[in-house]
Formats: sequence, C-alpha cells, structure tokens
Amino acid sequence: MPTITVTDPSVILLVGPAGSGKSTLAQRHFAPDEVLSSDAMRAIVGRGESDQNASKPAFALLHRQLRKRLAAGRLTVVDATNLSPRARSAVLRLAHAHRMPAVAIVLDLPAPMILGRSAGRVERRVDRDVVLDQLARLREVVDRGLLEREGFVAVFRIREPAEVDALRVERRGQRR
Ligand code: UTP
Ligand code: MG
Repeated sequence: MPTITVTDPSVILLVGPAGSGKSTLAQRHFAPDEVLSSDAMRAIVGRGESDQNASKPAFALLHRQLRKRLAAGRLTVVDATNLSPRARSAVLRLAHAHRMPAVAIVLDLPAPMILGRSAGRVERRVDRDVVLDQLARLREVVDRGLLEREGFVAVFRIREPAEVDALRVERRGQRR
C-alpha cells in the first residue's frame, strides 16, 4: 500500500500508539498548518506537550480548531493516538457536520519495534505500561474492524516500516 489517496479537503485521522510515528508521518506528508496535534494543544493549555492532565482542554481546543478549519474547507490531519471510539467519534461528527470525508491512517507496526523506539526516545518519554496498553487497544481496533464500521470512507493500514518509508500521499480535488 505505497500510495494513499485523499480527497482535498478531507479529515485525516492518524491512529497509532505513542512512538508509532504519527507526527513523523504528518510532518513528512502534510504542511505544518494542516496538522492539529493533541500534544501541541497540551503545550498551549497545559505545562507542556506531555501534560496528560491537560487532555480535556487540549482536546476541546483541538476540536475547536478543527471545526474552524473544516468550516473554511481546509484539509486537516488529526495527530493524536485516536485509539478510543470516543476520540474518533468526536472527530467524525465534526467531519460529517461539515460534509467532509474522513479517512483513517492506522500505524499498525510491529509491537517490539514500537516498544524499542519508545524506550529509546529522548524528546518525550512515555511509560512502557502506557504503550503496552495502547498496543492492546490498537489490536482491538484492528482485529474487530472497528474503524470500518465507524464511518471512515477509507482505512489505510500500514504494517511494515518499509511501507512507511515508501508511502506516498496523493491528493485528489473534490468539487464541492
Ligand atoms: P513520532 O514522534 O513520530 O511518534 O515518532 P508519534 O506516534 O507521534 O508518538 P506520540 O504519540 O506523539 O508520542 C516516535 C519516535 O520514532 C522515531 C522518531 O524519530 C521518534 O523519535 N521514528 C519515527 C523513526 O525512527 N522512524 C519513523 O519512521 C518514524
Ligand atoms: Mg506525536
């Protein structure tokens, strides 16, 4: 799956545990202003990118910015783990309210790789237990096929690091 085709505008939801490479992918394939990241919102309303206590206001801010962008007809990437149905449904609701298609890009990479990467991270440490929990939630999402039933127009699942490296994102204009 080397090419992902997305409609422009649309909402692109990244799904994956900490350390799966969501922010790296977003940075590689999208412009900085197209990406809304929960960590950036935590840094604005909390004590920094990893302030988990600031989750509630951080997501409120993310959703508010998403609403504005969608009202302006702008393609937007939501860079958060998006592992809970509730997190995804909040974004899907906004997409649907603005008649925007939503696609999911799932970073379903090998667990040992994610754990290894996570342990070696210097910029922002995430507890191993937290990552293990997120990996278990990812398995549930994938194995139960949850995304396919939630209203995404497409679900792209990336399983190998080589696929990440070879990935291309193609935009297709939509007449609105
Ligand atoms: P990211 O910081 O992109 O992961 O990469 P993430 O999914 O957004 O993580 P959270 O949820 O914000 O915590 C994590 C680490 O993995 C490396 C990055 O350099 C970073 O240190 N990485 C990422 C790679 O080595 N290769 C990749 O293809 C992607
Ligand atoms: Mg990130």
